Amino acid sequence: MNQTVQSVRGMNDVLPAEAEFWEFFEERVRLWAKAYGYRPIRLPIVEPTSLFKRAIGEVTDIVEKEMYSFEDSLNGEKLSLRPEGTAGCARAVLQHHLAAQRPQRLYYLGPMFRHERPQKGRYRQFNQIGVESFGFAGPDIDAEQILMSARLWDDLGLDGIELQINSLGQPEERARYRAELVDYFEKHADSLDEEAKRRLHTNPLRILDSKNPAMREMLSESPRLLDHLGAESVAHFEGVQQVLSDVGVAYTINPRLVRGLDYYNLTVFEWLTDRLGAQATVCAGGRYDGLVGQLGGKPMPACGFAIGVERLTALVQESDGVPTAPQTDVYLVYQGDAANAIAPRVAESLRDQGISVLFNCGGGSFKSQMKKADASGALYAVIIGDDEARDDEVTLKPLRDDGREPQKRVSIDGVADEIVKYFLDEDDFDGCL
Ligand code: HAM
Repeated sequence: MNQTVQSVRGMNDVLPAEAEFWEFFEERVRLWAKAYGYRPIRLPIVEPTSLFKRAIGEVTDIVEKEMYSFEDSLNGEKLSLRPEGTAGCARAVLQHHLAAQRPQRLYYLGPMFRHERPQKGRYRQFNQIGVESFGFAGPDIDAEQILMSARLWDDLGLDGIELQINSLGQPEERARYRAELVDYFEKHADSLDEEAKRRLHTNPLRILDSKNPAMREMLSESPRLLDHLGAESVAHFEGVQQVLSDVGVAYTINPRLVRGLDYYNLTVFEWLTDRLGAQATVCAGGRYDGLVGQLGGKPMPACGFAIGVERLTALVQESDGVPTAPQTDVYLVYQGDAANAIAPRVAESLRDQGISVLFNCGGGSFKSQMKKADASGALYAVIIGDDEARDDEVTLKPLRDDGREPQKRVSIDGVADEIVKYFLDEDDFDGCL
């Protein structure tokens, strides 16, 4: 039996209506990043597996069980599809000495891969907008990035996304806290679930992140990392909060906010919504001053965040922020030998002048072509028969204004002007006037 081939589970097609929205969205993102002086960087989708082990951490969910890793059968290299972008970005900055002269503000956009159980808002191939800075040590850049994310929600007309922040302190502070936390958990071993028992000696901080209601009470009384921070870490955290308060960005301190990747220190933050079911985190990030050193470079302060594009677009689509699909300006209808000879040239010259043209392919009678023109959503039909072609003219027929404007013959050289004149009144010309 012939079975059709399907896409891989958790890896989705983005069909034209939605892809048009993604393009609109990506354009907004580029302008937004530029407004803060962040420059684009494009990174490989495949990296050495060792990069992610070193950067994200051996005992994280991502590295333990979610990476698409394989051996390149041609040369035996151990490779992985990137599960996130920070590791690759730090590698590139180091490899190309990007931050040797001056600090860098960078952003990227693209697919990431994690072998998770697919559900709404959680996919095996998903897209992130990542923002990273290298070479800035103060709390001002952490705050800048939080403000930046807040602005994107505003630009997209989104509200109700809640900001949670925390400080993970420095590694020494965390080590002291970790010992105390393990003590506490050992005293409450009866309340630990299987997952927590497994993490107790590998990654106990992650237990704090558990969603298991049976552990809630025990966790709420566990020691707080914030109480173990030294003066410098406290000052850094207060510095971030000061800017947020000065600018009026509301936040909650969540002392149990830990991240699923090991490279963080000091500030961490997440933006959450209650409108996406279990997959509530739209955006997450923080400071990772140790990562570049861990990858073999000179230590360099760094900070960043990533937005889950599928989650964000789902939010935009359920609010009113969805733009209408861009319309094509003209559908080009033509028939007859003389018309055939000039139609492609007419279409190209309209495009030269910033007008978008759907060219009728596959022939057909005038009647059937006009039906296609109507169905296409174009604003105008440009019709060329042999009569028109002989006089170097076309017939211009408005398709969307309820007959307010009659069709008329215009010279080929004058069509674009005629269309633009019409749109100057209509306000919906999206060509390059
Ligand atoms: P992350 O928390 O693993 O952080 O992912 C960031 C965001 O990507 C999540 O908040 C979520 O919106 C989205 N995301 C993650 N996994 C999936 C999935 N399976 N399906 C759909 N969306 C998903 C990072 O990746 C860090 N690199 C962030 C960062 C940048 N930290 C510093 N710089």
